Amino acid sequence: MESRGSNPLCQLSVEELRRRTSMKWRQYPDDVLPVWVAEMDVPLAEPIKRALADALDLGDTGYPAGPAYAEALDEFATKRWGWHVEPAHTAIVPDVMLGIVEMLKLVTGPGDAVVVNSPVYQPFYLFVEHMDRRIVEAPLGCDHRLDLEATEAAFLRAREGGRPAAYLLCSPHNPTGTVHTEAELSAVTRLANAHGVRVVADEIHAPIVLPGATHVPYLSVPGAERAFSLMSASKAWNLAGLKAALAIAGPEALGDLARMPEEVGHGPSHLGAIAHAAALRHGGDWLDALLTGLDENRHLLTTLLAERLPGIVYRPPEGTFLAWLDCRALGLGDDPAQTFLDRGRVALTSNQGFGTGGEGYARLNLATSPDLLREAVKRMAAAV
Ligand SMILES: Cc1ncc(COP(=O)(O)O)c(C=O)c1O
Repeated sequence: MESRGSNPLCQLSVEELRRRTSMKWRQYPDDVLPVWVAEMDVPLAEPIKRALADALDLGDTGYPAGPAYAEALDEFATKRWGWHVEPAHTAIVPDVMLGIVEMLKLVTGPGDAVVVNSPVYQPFYLFVEHMDRRIVEAPLGCDHRLDLEATEAAFLRAREGGRPAAYLLCSPHNPTGTVHTEAELSAVTRLANAHGVRVVADEIHAPIVLPGATHVPYLSVPGAERAFSLMSASKAWNLAGLKAALAIAGPEALGDLARMPEEVGHGPSHLGAIAHAAALRHGGDWLDALLTGLDENRHLLTTLLAERLPGIVYRPPEGTFLAWLDCRALGLGDDPAQTFLDRGRVALTSNQGFGTGGEGYARLNLATSPDLLREAVKRMAAAV
């Protein structure tokens, strides 16, 4: 194994990881190496462990209360992005996807449209369709960036007949790892306002932005006053099992947020809120070590693919820990992840469900040790 050092990605052996009972390590048999779902192969950061241990010692396992999570997010956002989160403009929700559903319910009704930039995180389709809204796609450009013309065309289609419509922005973007620039976000804001489309920004990956890019919080963009954002520490500190997220309203969306039913706030876990607050308040050094490790991994993947799978087109992500691999030149058909799994015993995320533009791609999770990343690419190469 690599020397452990302070890289959170180099702390756990594959034997330890296989003892985990969460989705990443349990979905497939033990001969499959999992580099799929967005869980990270890291131990829990010490400050989070301490906060949870203190709560357990006290039996502090009741219902969530108070602004501690929102205040911690404010401290983090002010320090990292120079952006102030007003705790009174937030509401606690069970997780980011359920928060998105609630925000969409506030501004659209059944049958209304929700615009997404395909290819995009597949639950966007599942949750939106499950709540009887229609998806309208505005595909990303082939450079993986927002295509303003396609977005405007989608806004027009979404608003046909004068119906309300929303735009579910993924920022940073899963699966491409695109970090949207301030200019791109401003342009999107102008279009949304011109066409009367309400914006809901999923910013779950916001703390995971790698050297060379900067996250611009959507609500900090002038003109985004009627928008909502969803944030949590879930991706950056691997807390998906400790449910709690925050919905944040722009100043002109406060009246809408106030209409969110009180019972939504009963869904998150108190231990989740404690963990997320500890991550945001005290987990900065750990996050920086993680970002260094992810930066190394995204470059290592460039080298490994050049050596073993030069047919794959890979644009290293600017943010997130996801690599969106264009495998079309390998001749593996629409769903290369299936071939990698069947023949190489390595599980990437299939593009199925990511929408238009995903065909021939597979998503690889970089949040693992360099050793396991090498092993993953070796298995992929053996499959072709
Ligand atoms: C863009 C995006 N949104 C939401 C989620 C899920 O968040 P939660 O578990 O808080 O619903 C993920 C998980 O990978 C994600 O990548």
